[in-house]
Amino acid sequence: MITGTSTAQPIAMEVSNILGEPLVDLAYDGSVEAAEDVTVGADERVVIVGSTTSSQAHLELLELQERAVQRDPDDIVTVIGYMGYSRQDKLFNPGEAVSVRAIAKALSPSTDRVYSVNPHNVSVLDYFDVPAEPIDAAPQLAEPLPDDLSDPVFLGPDEDAVWLAESVQETYGEGVVDNFEKIRHSATEVEMRADDKDFTGRDVVLVDDMIATGGTMSEAVRLISKQDTDRVYVSCVHPLLVDNALSKLSRAGVKSLYATDTIDRSISRVSAAPPIADVL
Ligand code: R5P
Repeated sequence: MITGTSTAQPIAMEVSNILGEPLVDLAYDGSVEAAEDVTVGADERVVIVGSTTSSQAHLELLELQERAVQRDPDDIVTVIGYMGYSRQDKLFNPGEAVSVRAIAKALSPSTDRVYSVNPHNVSVLDYFDVPAEPIDAAPQLAEPLPDDLSDPVFLGPDEDAVWLAESVQETYGEGVVDNFEKIRHSATEVEMRADDKDFTGRDVVLVDDMIATGGTMSEAVRLISKQDTDRVYVSCVHPLLVDNALSKLSRAGVKSLYATDTIDRSISRVSAAPPIADVL
C-alpha cells in the first residue's frame, strides 16, 4: 500500500495508480479515525511518499513512518520526492549544521530503505543509515516538448546540471547538450557566462534540478534572450518556487515553464511517478 504526506498527495496517487496498490490515509492530516481503518498484513509493504518542503512536512513524514512501524509490515519504503535542506550538504561556514545529514539520520530508524528523487547531490544518500538510492525523474521533462524542436540545445545553467540536460536530451532523441558557467554570489544573486556559445535559430531547453528563487533560470534566460534563438523552454525536477520566483522568471522573459510533481505547484505538468514506480 501507498501513503503520502499532504505535500505529496498527487505523486502518491499516481504511484498508487501505476502499481495498482491502494493509496491509504495513515492520517497525514492528523485524523486518527481515518488511520484506524487501515490494517496492514504482516507480509505487506508500506510505501511512504513524502516531499519535505517545510519543517511541518518533515514532521509529517516522520509521523507517517512511525504510524507504519506500529502496523508492523514486512517492509517500509520511504520515497522522498523533494528532499528539503538538500543544498545544505556540507559545512559552508564554520558553526553551521550539515542540515541534510541531520534529516537523513532522523529518517533512517523507521524505514527499511529510502529512495530520493534527484537529490541535489547524490552523496547525501550516504548520510542515511539504511540503503538509499537516487531516482532520476529528469527524463520525464522531455514529455511536454513538441515533436518538432528545431536543432535543439538541452542546456544546463551550470556544470552540475549537464547530466540532467543529457537525461532529457536522450529521452527526446535528438539535439545537443551544453551548459553555461555559473558563479553564485549569494542565495539570490548569480552571475552567468555564456562565453562564445551561439544558439541562433535553435530551440533551447533549459534543465535544472530545482528552481528555488528563480535567480539561476532568470539569468540563463536573459543570456539566451540576447541571441536570436527560436523557442525557449525552462524546466526543472523540483519547482520549489520560493518568494516571488514566478514573477522574477516572468520579468526575465520566461514563457514556457514546467516541472515535475515532486512538489505540487501550478507548473507541475509532468509526473515523477513512473520512474518511482519502476524501482518499487
Ligand atoms: C544549484 O546548484 C541548483 O542546481 C539550482 O541551480 C539552484 O538551486 C536554483 O536556485 P535558484 O532558483 O534560487 O537560483
